[in-house]
Amino acid sequence: MNHRMSKELWNLDEADYPADKPLSEKLGFLLNYAQLAPSSHNSQPWLFSVQDTQVHLYPDLDQWLKVADPERRELYISLGCALENLLIAAEHFQLGYQASFFSDREGKEHFASVTFTEDSPTANVRDPDLFNTIPQRRTSRELFQPRLIPKEELLQVKAAWLEKDLHLHFIANIDQKRRLAEMVKTADKTLYANPAYRHELAEALGQGAFGTRWPWSRILQFIVRHINLGARLGKQDAQALMSAPVLIILSAKTDDAISQIKIGQLYERIALTATRLGLGTQPLSQILEIPSLRQQLAATLPDAKLVPQHFLRMGYPSDLKAHTPRRTVLQYLKM
Ligand SMILES: Cc1cc2nc3c(=O)[nH]c(=O)nc-3n(C[C@H](O)[C@H](O)[C@H](O)COP(=O)(O)O)c2cc1C
Repeated sequence: MNHRMSKELWNLDEADYPADKPLSEKLGFLLNYAQLAPSSHNSQPWLFSVQDTQVHLYPDLDQWLKVADPERRELYISLGCALENLLIAAEHFQLGYQASFFSDREGKEHFASVTFTEDSPTANVRDPDLFNTIPQRRTSRELFQPRLIPKEELLQVKAAWLEKDLHLHFIANIDQKRRLAEMVKTADKTLYANPAYRHELAEALGQGAFGTRWPWSRILQFIVRHINLGARLGKQDAQALMSAPVLIILSAKTDDAISQIKIGQLYERIALTATRLGLGTQPLSQILEIPSLRQQLAATLPDAKLVPQHFLRMGYPSDLKAHTPRRTVLQYLKM
């Protein structure tokens, strides 16, 4: 990841929407919201192209985490998060839209195209309040407060689940949580024992992708690259998991890129709904990055046909950390 990044974008002001300008300029403005989406290692693995009334979203394979994410599952989930922000913003600015998914001829690359119109706004299928939470959302990495989530709020999170071909599963049972915490420990130990995995993560840290400033970013990069902290981080991650009143598994009936883009859309809606309710979320991808542990995770689901795609914890954050930086829009345009 060799791009200049900045936190400027978080100060986005909707008053700057170019309401009197052509649609393509409006769409360019909406891309700012897409970019504030979460992505694995903050890799921002997306490329946008605006053509008249259309926005195309392509995977940016230069940003693909080849070691942590060899199947590109997290890459497509990240793309889905960006797509969801784009659609939420489109609804807010009263544009009509139609999203479609495509694959290249070899079936290797997958992307989304959205056609917009100014004449007939799409009826709000999403909670309109989510728009304002886009610039507030951030991933929570600290221990959550020892506080349960009221049922009404869980129902509001559940209401973010719109796709009938996907599945959302809550886990609050202490024994199940303990088993998952053990799986997280095993996953961290296994992943960090691989120097290539540490190298990839160290690169992101060194670039300041997680918001750490120089010289700390470089010091952390050195530590992660050269020292195997797997056992220690595993304990920390397990503790963080146990502090969460609720864990969530998002799964699909198929294990393909289009389902993963849709899982990303669902995750982003959950993360934004959580933000609106004063809750925080943190994906815990390590279990899914190890095929045998992913299978064990599948065994906790109510239907044997479901394939787990994303796993996260949710709870009340104890403090609000600073935002992470983003690339600038111009660096995103695929010509
Ligand atoms: C597909 C996906 C997987 C992720 N996996 C993890 C993870 O395993 N652990 C973690 O702490 N954060 C994870 N994240 C969160 C990203 O690190 C985070 O979105 C990114 O650093 C940008 O920061 P922000 O979400 O605060 O804007 C994941 C995010 C996505 C979209």
